Amino acid sequence: MTPMDRKICVVTGSSSGIGAATAKLFAGNGWNVVINYSRNAAPAEAVAEECRALGAEVLVIKADVSNDQDCRRMAGEVASAWGRTDVLVNNAGATKFVALKNLDGLSAEDFQRIYSVNVIGAYQMTRAFVPLLQKHPGSGVVNISSVASLMGVGSSIAYMASKGALNAMTVGLARALGPEIRVNAIAPGLVETPWMKEGLGPERYAATVDGYKSRAALEAVISPEDIAAAAWWLGAGAAKTTGEVLLIDAGLRITKA
Ligand SMILES: NC(=O)c1ccc[n+]([C@@H]2O[C@H](COP(=O)([O-])OP(=O)(O)OC[C@H]3O[C@@H](n4cnc5c(N)ncnc54)[C@H](OP(=O)(O)O)[C@@H]3O)[C@@H](O)[C@H]2O)c1
Repeated sequence: MTPMDRKICVVTGSSSGIGAATAKLFAGNGWNVVINYSRNAAPAEAVAEECRALGAEVLVIKADVSNDQDCRRMAGEVASAWGRTDVLVNNAGATKFVALKNLDGLSAEDFQRIYSVNVIGAYQMTRAFVPLLQKHPGSGVVNISSVASLMGVGSSIAYMASKGALNAMTVGLARALGPEIRVNAIAPGLVETPWMKEGLGPERYAATVDGYKSRAALEAVISPEDIAAAAWWLGAGAAKTTGEVLLIDAGLRITKA
């Protein structure tokens, strides 16, 4: 395989958690990857080093997906470096941890900030990368949604609503961008990443994990690698799947018997 033949995967929010695991999986399968973050460079560089050790060429790009100029700049950098993109994983996310019954805990600004990353960010990134994704039919966009969108669980109502909007957008974009580009989403349950640990603090996090395991049919929480495997299948395979929202929740929705 010549360097020009290598496929390209762009993963937003890939300095940590699900995004980092996804970038490493694509890198280990012979793809070049883009590592993206908006605040902390050091973890992004560390993930990039791991991907390089797996044989990938890597671009590390600081860009806030809620900023359209950043999204277009990112697509421009990928176009200059490699001239193609085969998979875009819209993984960067934002939330505010507010108890469900605390309706006063969420302001309009909270909704707008969360939407600006989870919904508008994914839209802007997809729009910026369409010209690169269109070059190779069968390319894929994978949006990281959440079980929160389907069950009314999770960090806040604004977050649940944003992920519901992302599901609806996934279906609309799948129709708009076919037949060249497939667009799918993954709705993970509780994934062991800094997201929930930092959002809840250590004690509430431990109790939440226990509660999740006691309710889910598989008595488990999810690993970042579980979601990366699904992103790999939906992005690089799944030739006949588009407009799908794939739930990966260890059986939380169906619950234990
Ligand atoms: N963990 C869970 O239980 C769970 C469950 C369901 C769905 N999800 C979804 O999975 C996705 C990833 O979550 P995670 O658990 O892996 O979180 P994480 O470990 O906290 O990682 C979040 C990543 O997103 C980046 N990021 C945040 N805002 C960004 C922005 N505006 N532009 C670009 N990058 C940004 C962060 O880097 P910087 O801070 O440097 O920007 C970091 O790389 C999110 O969309 C989340 O909603 C998570």
